[in-house]
Amino acid sequence: MKIELSVKNARIVLYKYLGSNQKRLLHSERVAKISVELAKKYHVSQIEAAIAGLLHDIGKALQDTNLNYGKSYNVAMLEYCLRNNITMYDFELFDNISALHGRISGSFFEKEFGEEEDKDAFNRIKMAIERHVAGSEEMCLLDKIIFIADNVEPDKKDHYLLSSLTNGEKDIDGVIKEIITNKKNRAMRKKLPYNPLLDSNNEYLER
Ligand SMILES: [Fe+2]
Ligand SMILES: [Fe+2]
Repeated sequence: MKIELSVKNARIVLYKYLGSNQKRLLHSERVAKISVELAKKYHVSQIEAAIAGLLHDIGKALQDTNLNYGKSYNVAMLEYCLRNNITMYDFELFDNISALHGRISGSFFEKEFGEEEDKDAFNRIKMAIERHVAGSEEMCLLDKIIFIADNVEPDKKDHYLLSSLTNGEKDIDGVIKEIITNKKNRAMRKKLPYNPLLDSNNEYLER
């Protein structure tokens, strides 16, 4: 059955996947809210920003339940990616399988809204969802907005960066650079694995 791509339906799909996890629901709503604010500022579709913000983490549903798999969540993610031909990089496979949730969320989004007639809007939203974890070469404005909103919502450590973006102290690429630097520093401090895709995908920021 075709589900129309709308903010209302995105919220229904959000509850379908993450409804049992209040923390993820509230995070998704906050990301959507900031995404809409930034979309207004950068003249990007506010509807697309809201939908991508609401649905960017729906792949994490696989971390919240093992009902369908009977195994640990990382096996659920692994199995899903194998079955659906989703690319998996070494870091994701061996260091932090949760980092696959961007591509898994994009795949869930496609399952729900894949019959959407507005293919351009569908593709833009899917791309922004997939790219929110590790960025990408040549991100478009919507990709950048979702990446930033995910990291600067009030509950995140980089929340202070939102005001430097809205008051013009920093530009959009400057904020992405600082988010990536902060992630790297935190990983080093806590001796946690750092996603190397954040560097290789975003080399354009150094040019
Ligand atoms: Fe995420
Ligand atoms: Fe998120």
